[in-house]
Amino acid sequence: MKILISGGTVVNASGPFVADVLVEGETIAALVAPDSSASASWQESADRVIDARGQFVIPGAIDGHTHMEMPFGGTQSADTFETGTRAAAFGGTTTIIDFAIQSKGKSLREGLDAWHAKAEGKCAIDYGFHMIVSDVNESSLNEMDLVIDEGVTSFKLFMAYPGVFYSTDGEILQAMQQASSNGSTIMMHAENGIAIDVLVAQALARGESDPRFHGSTRPAFLEGEATHRAIQLARVAGAPLYIVHLSAAQALDEVVKARDRGQSVFAETCPQYLFLSDADLAREGFEGAKYVCSPPLRPESNHADLWRGLRTDDLSIVSTDHCPFCFKEQKELGVGDFSKIPNGIPGVEHRLDLIFQGVERGEISLARWVDVTSTTPARMFGLFPKKGVLAPGSDADIVLYDPDATHTFSAATHHMNVDYSAYEGLEVRGQVKTVLARGVVVIEGNQFVGRPGSGQFLQRGLNGYLR
Ligand code: URP
Ligand code: ZN
Ligand code: ZN
Repeated sequence: MKILISGGTVVNASGPFVADVLVEGETIAALVAPDSSASASWQESADRVIDARGQFVIPGAIDGHTHMEMPFGGTQSADTFETGTRAAAFGGTTTIIDFAIQSKGKSLREGLDAWHAKAEGKCAIDYGFHMIVSDVNESSLNEMDLVIDEGVTSFKLFMAYPGVFYSTDGEILQAMQQASSNGSTIMMHAENGIAIDVLVAQALARGESDPRFHGSTRPAFLEGEATHRAIQLARVAGAPLYIVHLSAAQALDEVVKARDRGQSVFAETCPQYLFLSDADLAREGFEGAKYVCSPPLRPESNHADLWRGLRTDDLSIVSTDHCPFCFKEQKELGVGDFSKIPNGIPGVEHRLDLIFQGVERGEISLARWVDVTSTTPARMFGLFPKKGVLAPGSDADIVLYDPDATHTFSAATHHMNVDYSAYEGLEVRGQVKTVLARGVVVIEGNQFVGRPGSGQFLQRGLNGYLR
């Protein structure tokens, strides 16, 4: 199959330029000048010509942080790999990296096998896995080396959630030492879970049970403190560190200091920390439960710091931390006790649009929009240049994006398998029009025309910023 994408403005992380994109089979054959003889010859021979005039042609977005079918708080996140990857495709995301979970008392192997079983034959787009290590011991440390050979090259540890995912500082140090020797990247949920559990128990004892107390019991200082501690542990181990879902200026300050002294510390933030705030968590009645995630939504004053971090590359990536729970019956598990509200916000469909609002407002450039949503995730998670760039030989994961179209987010129209939208009624400028995943059109005319199961598991390489 030969496809010509003609007349659009190609935007890579290096910047925009006018070019026609020639797709042959699953990959990009060439980028050529629109008035070139190569383009004219493809006009004749292509099986399909897609008119991209007036649109940006960008590399498919990569969401490096999702949770499909994730067991949490006595329930399970509401998107399956089938529904979640279809919703991702609607939003211009053509690769996800989900978190396979090693449960306490189980092996990494068992966790990874379980995630393969959930995802295989279901995904509409390509997918990879990080691994959550919940039980650091000699055998799981050795297993880290083994799963790297299977393309799982990054491991998430938790300083939060004692009794569930939590690791002690000593365990974290050991995992970091292992990462230092095997070349993998440690990802950290940096919140001081031991202190938070004390604050949660005290709040509940005072009768403070509404969703907003989820925020007040997880203060930003305890994210800043944990981020600092994680950075020092990584420094001792000589290991790279990637801070996930960074929400607060206090944590960003720690990342900036580490990067300024040359430590290999990276961080992502998420759209919810750029667009939502603790005021959402404090919404009337139980509405705030829709906005319960960890770290919690912070005061709006943090937004400017996070946008600055994205501009200056102190924040490398925007991922979604997509972890959807329906309001009915799932979030409602926490009526009368905020600590029982399953943590997470749906967002896999909206990241490209939301971060494009930052371009519209002058917070980041067009090129940086592509960089933080596609190119840097590809480099960071060992997928570049197969993914993350429009270049000859790269996978033909391509999004045609109309910068002038407007649309409104709503649970009534989104494609995520969840009964509410955290952005209900928000009108955005810019819209995904056409999506190709490895050379196959999967979204067109606001319809999904792809196939569950066409997404392939990606064996990822090591972090491209460290090689
Ligand atoms: O609230 C969140 N972030 N839920 C997903 C689990 C995690 O910590 O990433
Ligand atoms: Zn986390
Ligand atoms: Zn997460």
